[in-house]
Amino acid sequence: MRIAVGADHGGYSLKEAVVRYLIAEGHQVEDVGTHDETSTDYPDYAVQVARAVAEGRADLGVLVCGTGIGMSIAANKVRGVRAALATDCYMARMAREHNDANVLCLGGRVLGTGSALEIVRAFLEARFAGGRHARRVGKIEAIERGEKG
Ligand code: RB5
Repeated sequence: MRIAVGADHGGYSLKEAVVRYLIAEGHQVEDVGTHDETSTDYPDYAVQVARAVAEGRADLGVLVCGTGIGMSIAANKVRGVRAALATDCYMARMAREHNDANVLCLGGRVLGTGSALEIVRAFLEARFAGGRHARRVGKIEAIERGEKG
């Protein structure tokens, strides 16, 4: 898959591990930075990854900040993006199966590297279940279009 990845300083170290993992698994990775631990602003990276996914240049995205919260808030401002913060594999799997999430957000100050890479694996392996979940995702899209849910 084509996977866009980004982080701020709080997620830099974990992002580097995620990039190595994804490349080792044979994915095509677009790393939008950050490239060191200098303090920086998470929305700058969230918007790049979110737009890559929304515009079809990436199949999925992974964003890492200190908690994953800022990244998820920012990425969800981009139309077509469903960014999900996951702190365990169940959340990651459900984010795709039920919510059709297309961006995974992780907390670099919350998760150990081993747990985080398992979460990434769970997210990538899961598939959207469709059915009643498609109706619900459709209602999210209606909200995004400014229509009544
Ligand atoms: C940076 O200190 C921190 O606020 C950021 O990485 C993130 O956790 C925000 O949600």
